[in-house]
Amino acid sequence: MIFQRSKTPGEDIRRFLSMTSQRRRLIDESSDALPTADFAVNQLSQKLHPGIFRAVIAGKEPVGCNAAKITLLPAEGTHFPYFRAGQFVTLSSRVGDSFLTRAYSLASSPGEARRGVMEIIVQENGLYSGYLLHQAKTGETVSVGEPSGDFYHDSIRDRGHVLAVAGGSGVTPFLSMMKAIREGSEDFRLTLLYGVRKLDDALFDPDSFRDDRIRIELILSEEEREGFRHGFITRDLLKDCIDGETSVFMCGPDAMYRYVGGELEALGIGPHAVRREHNSIGMREVPEQKVFRLTVHIRDERYVLEARNDETLLTALERAGIPAVSRCRSGVCGFCHSRLVKGMFTVHDHEDHRRAADIKFNYLHPCCSYPESDMEIEIPVFNV
Ligand code: FES
Repeated sequence: MIFQRSKTPGEDIRRFLSMTSQRRRLIDESSDALPTADFAVNQLSQKLHPGIFRAVIAGKEPVGCNAAKITLLPAEGTHFPYFRAGQFVTLSSRVGDSFLTRAYSLASSPGEARRGVMEIIVQENGLYSGYLLHQAKTGETVSVGEPSGDFYHDSIRDRGHVLAVAGGSGVTPFLSMMKAIREGSEDFRLTLLYGVRKLDDALFDPDSFRDDRIRIELILSEEEREGFRHGFITRDLLKDCIDGETSVFMCGPDAMYRYVGGELEALGIGPHAVRREHNSIGMREVPEQKVFRLTVHIRDERYVLEARNDETLLTALERAGIPAVSRCRSGVCGFCHSRLVKGMFTVHDHEDHRRAADIKFNYLHPCCSYPESDMEIEIPVFNV
């Protein structure tokens, strides 16, 4: 309703006083149906943040030892969202009676995703990875959670040279970064220190990344080969790769984080200057294995299942075939954020990233919480 000033004295005040009744009449006359207009901003938002989308397994190619590169194409009617090199996606499928989800770093670049291709590297490690490697067929459709995580180069936060330290399949996010540097969607220098047992275990061919801005050093711990370093990542090697413009990124096993982190500290680079990708939280050692009763509410549905004290609540949910929302599986992203109705639990060492308000009002992250008694929780809906 547009109010235009009148030249007749008193007219403005009369029209102003009638505005409320006019507005009420217009509201009463309008339809109860929600507006259906499809705004450009909503379309863009849906493209950037599709939540869960569907993808088709287009191929599997063996790489390294007990690993394969899996190529995904968008399912009909969908497209791949934009992401930053270094981010991960989650894949979900029903496997037998279970509904499993796992996070995999993207090995492909943002440019490849724009061209309709995504690649992940899956190493034989656990039920879902085994399923993807040996049972999932070409042409099968999987649910994919949108790219997530903050393990990427940010020119405001990070410096112009990245020292990337990787072990085993931890090299995957750096493959994406190197491709992005080569194709021009990222602009920084990268030195990769990649530790593997033998050359055949390496998940990529270093010669495929020849570029002035990329330096690759393969360190073979159990093999001596001409042209490659032998042994482990040492303090001297780290020192040789660090200049005044270096940010350190690490992705690999926890033992590598502890060892390399200690060597970096000795070189004067503290934890604040080192970014490490969080590993999925798995089983824990317990003095005595116990099985508790877990009652789960999803909106108005209720399930009762068994939960072991050496496995996370998320594992118990997946084993029971309950589609449970998860992304990082390391307590960081908050996507599995659930409400504790009653019961006791323990959070995995050093991985309690809940906000103070979540702790105060009894919220927990099932991906990093182990049951200590019978429990009742309310979890979010998984829109597969
Ligand atoms: S899945 Fe990220 S916090 Fe649980």
